[in-house]
Amino acid sequence: MSLLFQIKHFLLHKLKSGDAYSIHSPFLFEFYNQTVAYNKHFYSFVELKSLRNKLLQDQTVLHIHDLGAGSQKTRSSTRQVKDIVKNSGKQEFVAQFLFRLINHLRPRTSLELGTSLGLTSLYLASVDSKHKVYTVEGCAATRNYAQQLFRKQKKSNVTSVLGDIDVVLPKVLEEMEVLDFVFFDANHTYEATLKYFRWCKERAHDGSVFVFDDIYWSRGMKAAWAEICADQDVMISVDFFYFGVLFFRKNQPKQHFYLKI
Ligand SMILES: C[S@@+](CC[C@H](N)C(=O)[O-])C[C@H]1O[C@@H](n2cnc3c(N)ncnc32)[C@H](O)[C@@H]1O
Repeated sequence: MSLLFQIKHFLLHKLKSGDAYSIHSPFLFEFYNQTVAYNKHFYSFVELKSLRNKLLQDQTVLHIHDLGAGSQKTRSSTRQVKDIVKNSGKQEFVAQFLFRLINHLRPRTSLELGTSLGLTSLYLASVDSKHKVYTVEGCAATRNYAQQLFRKQKKSNVTSVLGDIDVVLPKVLEEMEVLDFVFFDANHTYEATLKYFRWCKERAHDGSVFVFDDIYWSRGMKAAWAEICADQDVMISVDFFYFGVLFFRKNQPKQHFYLKI
């Protein structure tokens, strides 16, 4: 079901989506040009690509304890690092988009739900060493692997939290001074996505930006994304197919966009 569902929505998105010239909001036009259409080269991209290639060769076996919706590719409880990167890691263009987004927004404090091996956390943390990144993971083995990577990459601005997001998220949010940016990439179910959104929304401010990964992963994720976009506090929502971006800017009219990446 899932693959056909995703292909159908990928094709529909292709028909509906536009590029920078389809955007009438000056705020969003600027955002698009500084993130999607920004073609300046960053040295961190070379370093992180080389790290990704190293992980793609890594045959270390990890014992997986998945507290979320699991993988659509495997049900096995032991996985090699190289397969985790291939199957559940972010594609490079998504990670690079997130890096440019952080570079454009310059958040003070960000949160990632679902660390996995920590590759995306490293993209978020590499923009600026003063940018504090909290990342939460429920599987001890992957979290430990990620923690080692953060140490090796000397990213002391990453705080890695081990635990079930359902249990630890309220405490993490309390601990964070401000919530400028959230990347939701953990439990891809309808209920969890809405629950985490509502908890995080309580801490959001006018300039906060939320990114939801895999909004067409399943019918449940698509329904959660639609409900989130309809939320009265969400002013701008952008569907990039692979992920969705939300803004809370109160002075903007409520609008929804389909954009190409
Ligand atoms: C798609 S992966 C995250 C990928 C990572 N953000 C990246 O870009 O490389 C999802 C991760 O969320 C974790 N996860 C799922 N449900 C969780 C929960 N309820 N609490 C904590 N972690 C959870 C899984 O163990 C898995 O490692």
